[in-house]
Amino acid sequence: MCEKCKEKFFITTPLYYPSSRLHIGHAYCTVATDVMARYKRMRGADVIFLTGTDEHGQKIENKAREADVTPKQFVDGVVEAPKGVKDLWKLMNVSYDRFIRTTDESHLKTVQQVFRTMYDKGDIYKGYYEGLYCTPCEAFWTENQLKDGKCPDCGREVQPAREEAYFFRASKYADRVRKLLTETDFLEPKSRVNEMVNNFIDCEGGLQDLCVSRTSFSWGVPVDFDDKHVVYVWLDALFGYLSPLGYLNENGEDWKCFWPADVHFIGKEIVRFHAIYWPAFLMSMELPLPKKIYGHGWLNFNGDKMSKSKGNVVDPYLLAERYGVDALRFFMLRTFPFGSDGNFTNETLISCINVDLANDLGNLVSRTVAMVGKYFGGQLPLEQQEDEEKDDELITQACDLVHVYAEQMEKYAFQNALGEIFKVIGRANKYIDENEPWKLAKDEANKPRLARVLYNLLETVRICGGLLRPFMPAASAEIMKRIGAAEYDWDSLAFFGTLYRDAKVENGPALFPRIDAAKELEELEKLQAAQAAEATGNRQQATGNEATVGADAHIGPSEAEDAPLPEPLPEIAFDDFQKVEMTVVKVLACENVKKSEKLLKFQLDDGTGTPRQILSGIAKYYKPEELLGKTLVAVTNLAPRKMMGQLSCGMLLSAERGDKLRLLILDDAIPAGSRLC
Ligand code: MSP
Repeated sequence: MCEKCKEKFFITTPLYYPSSRLHIGHAYCTVATDVMARYKRMRGADVIFLTGTDEHGQKIENKAREADVTPKQFVDGVVEAPKGVKDLWKLMNVSYDRFIRTTDESHLKTVQQVFRTMYDKGDIYKGYYEGLYCTPCEAFWTENQLKDGKCPDCGREVQPAREEAYFFRASKYADRVRKLLTETDFLEPKSRVNEMVNNFIDCEGGLQDLCVSRTSFSWGVPVDFDDKHVVYVWLDALFGYLSPLGYLNENGEDWKCFWPADVHFIGKEIVRFHAIYWPAFLMSMELPLPKKIYGHGWLNFNGDKMSKSKGNVVDPYLLAERYGVDALRFFMLRTFPFGSDGNFTNETLISCINVDLANDLGNLVSRTVAMVGKYFGGQLPLEQQEDEEKDDELITQACDLVHVYAEQMEKYAFQNALGEIFKVIGRANKYIDENEPWKLAKDEANKPRLARVLYNLLETVRICGGLLRPFMPAASAEIMKRIGAAEYDWDSLAFFGTLYRDAKVENGPALFPRIDAAKELEELEKLQAAQAAEATGNRQQATGNEATVGADAHIGPSEAEDAPLPEPLPEIAFDDFQKVEMTVVKVLACENVKKSEKLLKFQLDDGTGTPRQILSGIAKYYKPEELLGKTLVAVTNLAPRKMMGQLSCGMLLSAERGDKLRLLILDDAIPAGSRLC
């Protein structure tokens, strides 16, 4: 295909604030963007994947002052230094094509011209910003934003103040933006649309004009016709999606064929800026609008928002070093649906590596390659028996995979796309058990059939391994090398039978070694605790032995009310709800599980006469003795599962928000064994 006819695909991550070390939550969006960019490249598209840093604003100016360096020196340190932003993307194997820093000269030019154009056409006008001002923080607040009447950042008194400022006439674009949100697929997931429309457009007073300049600090793009003003960081940063394409500067003319962006991937808390103001700015500049804004969910850690002050930010360097970058990338997109919040726990990470990667994928590759080695010296013979009817199911599933996978990828449903691959991997493992190659190998006459069985397995591995490439680039390349399929392209993944019949396979060490979960969890928790102590300035040590202070004390001030509301779940039928058996249970015994900081083990009277064992990850909220004799509610028809080597037969009901968790405790009037209705 000629370069001109190729599909153009322009995808972006948010431009990150270089204010502190980025964590796994930041890496989530960038890895997802990388997966999408690699997928499109694999399909032959001409891709620009843009990421970068949003470097202006008062916070950076303050941090630089604290560090006694200039703001530019400060941001250079965070962006370019070891373990800085660029270094993290290198670690995560992020294949961005462009990196914009909003301090780039060419970007300043774009922003200044945009500001002037909007001003000249009357979309920006001068007025006064009025509010409650916190002098130490140099920040304006509205009445509603205050905490107990004081500055929500530092807790000090605020004064009424007035500052000259420029405003963007957002109100002029309210109707067009409402239509865009309600009548098109501009914003996804759809669940985010109502919040935007109801809270910001159809609210009392309608969409307010936006203050787009500041005079109380100077670290920003100066308004070139009124230089005591600097441009508001969001107006500045959003045009960072266009300036690297040469819009209104000398960076070339890529914007002419790559704009509008195909999709901006962003986190849910910045949807407002991207779904309301960004289209309004573009309307004002008479530019086409991005085709899609996708507001993904957040990664929390153990049910809690990651935050440096709480010392619970998950360090990608630590995890990548222990499990490899591919496993980490895979885990994030396999475990959490992209549009909703996800709860990162060390247990889920290790179990995902053990189950999906070591057991299912790793075993399939190593068994297949090992059998070709053992029975045919590493190369299948050309003479192979034709397929039998019992091969059809595997072959059909493998042939269809590319289509179902692509359908999910085009919807950014990464978890489902991987789910489809793993269905086929599961089918292939079953195919080995069904065909028992080790038995076929015993009789020379069965060799042509054995060769065909192994060929079908190699082909399935080739298709799955190829489609895994956007997620796990290095592991995918290694898989293809091992099965002798180093050269392949997208089209070949839609055909079963393109691997040379006599391709040479190569053995190698385990692709994803199995992890001893109990040992590893203990080790990992120790390392994370040490990092947390360092990050919070040894807060734990300074406040004494918190484990003995009571349930809430060790997590600091309550953040439950501030914690984001969970994502709404899809509606279910009453019949489905009735399938859940909820039983009143009484605690007969409760103890901590050895080597686990999270688990409590319960023996419960469930009315059957035989105690029921349930393990629950609530040790940081309750001490075992507090719960003895309590009447709780358990789901009692859940399939039993093992946790830390012990069987758990059900689940105790609790409610969780931010840093708070409470079990559902009933009074004694209801005897054990009663059913909830
Ligand atoms: N500078 C703005 C974006 C400007 S785009 C023109 C910004 N920067 S940020 O560094 O604070 O956040 C960057 C992205 O990281 C956001 O999309 C945010 O949602 C995401 N995340 C930060 N913590 C996160 C998690 N714990 N989980 C998932 N994403 C999270 O906002």
